[in-house]
Amino acid sequence: MNTYDQLIRNNKAWAEDMERKDPGFFSRLVHVQNPEFLWIGCSDSRVPANEITGTLPGQIFVHRNIANMVVNTDVNLLSVLEYAVLVLKVKHVIVCGHYGCGGVKAAMTDQSIGIIDTWLRNIKDVYRLHKEEVDAIPSEQGRFDRMVELNVMEQVMDLAKTTIVQRGWADRNGPDLHGWVYRLSDGIVHSVCDIPAGTAQEPIHMYGNL
Ligand code: CO
Repeated sequence: MNTYDQLIRNNKAWAEDMERKDPGFFSRLVHVQNPEFLWIGCSDSRVPANEITGTLPGQIFVHRNIANMVVNTDVNLLSVLEYAVLVLKVKHVIVCGHYGCGGVKAAMTDQSIGIIDTWLRNIKDVYRLHKEEVDAIPSEQGRFDRMVELNVMEQVMDLAKTTIVQRGWADRNGPDLHGWVYRLSDGIVHSVCDIPAGTAQEPIHMYGNL
């Protein structure tokens, strides 16, 4: 277990190790940020974007919140998305959920936790949209796992409905959107959906003047 002081020591050792393996690594990164990927993941400490994808600083632009939500009134998420899609011009946006997500689990109960109730409200809508399928799953674990998958799929669909993504599609036919679910017990990600750039949405979600 790391103590606070160890974090500082670890950082020094890490920076030295990176520089030893790849001299000039940090000084090159100072001048350019050119990631190909935007990661929208859960804040859960067990699902770190860089480690589980084997990527280095500079390769993934990251936004994390509880239960990897794409909430269309969240100025934080929208700012990250706009910068990633329209300025950095990422090629792929990945929404990565994970089995065992406490946020999804909390949303499936009738218990109030606090302000997070409001944040998780949209997950209850995911349940409403897929109630028949979810309720037909016999085990509680099965229903929970499926809700994690469906929640990721709905967030990816919500990305496709944003003017930001649709402007990217209109301007440069990118980015592609992807939904993943990470399994805590083996460290493996599973693809649950893909929406390639330019995929037609329901007419009311298509902004024809972009
Ligand atoms: Co989570």
